[in-house]
Amino acid sequence: MSSHAHDDTGQHDGGGNGHLHAHAHAQSFPDANAQYFDAHAHEMDERPAHQELAQRVSAALLDAYQFKEEETVVMDFACGTGLVSRALAPHAKTIIGVDISQGSVDEFNRRVENQGILPEEMRAVRAELKGEDSELDGLRFDLIVCSMAYHHFASYVDMTRILAFFLKAGGHLFVVDIMKNEDGMAVIPQKFGHIVPHLHGLSESDMRGAFEGAGLQDFSYGLLTKMKRNGKDESLFLTKGVKAL
Ligand SMILES: C[S@@+](CC[C@H](N)C(=O)[O-])C[C@H]1O[C@@H](n2cnc3c(N)ncnc32)[C@H](O)[C@@H]1O
Repeated sequence: MSSHAHDDTGQHDGGGNGHLHAHAHAQSFPDANAQYFDAHAHEMDERPAHQELAQRVSAALLDAYQFKEEETVVMDFACGTGLVSRALAPHAKTIIGVDISQGSVDEFNRRVENQGILPEEMRAVRAELKGEDSELDGLRFDLIVCSMAYHHFASYVDMTRILAFFLKAGGHLFVVDIMKNEDGMAVIPQKFGHIVPHLHGLSESDMRGAFEGAGLQDFSYGLLTKMKRNGKDESLFLTKGVKAL
């Protein structure tokens, strides 16, 4: 979750084209995110707000997609410590969590092991995906979910194209993130600017552009829930796209 960070960078979302560069920082956004979430992985699952959020996100995903316990192969991209994955796991054949933070991946796998779940059914790997054939052992997915991470990606446009690459034909991509405010105010505090390039959240047109740019069809964007985080009201959206058959 985006909380308790330090420096105030004053970065802002440069016009909604989905591309940003960490020009003011020695560290890239992926490196800064890995460092931040490594440091917080051990206590992430204990935060009540995080648990509540994961519960609402999982319920919405279970409602929106027809899981088949014997068949559905899922990627939970930017999975963190796995709260969403663990809620989806009983409904899927396999869940692969992917995250840039080794600490989060270790925490994810530790909990899977403690619960006696087999790695064939559920595991996480640390990776910075590029969309290449050799990645993730050539696995392709019926469903890719990405919860509360798009605002952390310097280019969510490129990331959407990469995620679409890993879908099977007919596979679904679902993204949950923070809606952009009509009033143009940042929805995420400036102090998170070193790990969050999109402090204003993402609009329907931002997401539509990214999904259509990735060749995904059947686009939809709707309100998932409203929550108070970091002392502010946030509206979360659920976006869907489908890879052509
Ligand atoms: C706010 S947490 C969300 C975790 C989880 N999806 C959830 O909903 O509980 C954002 C996650 O995005 C990951 N992340 C940030 N940038 C990433 C990147 N470029 N590739 C993969 N994961 C990334 C972080 O390490 C962190 O685990």
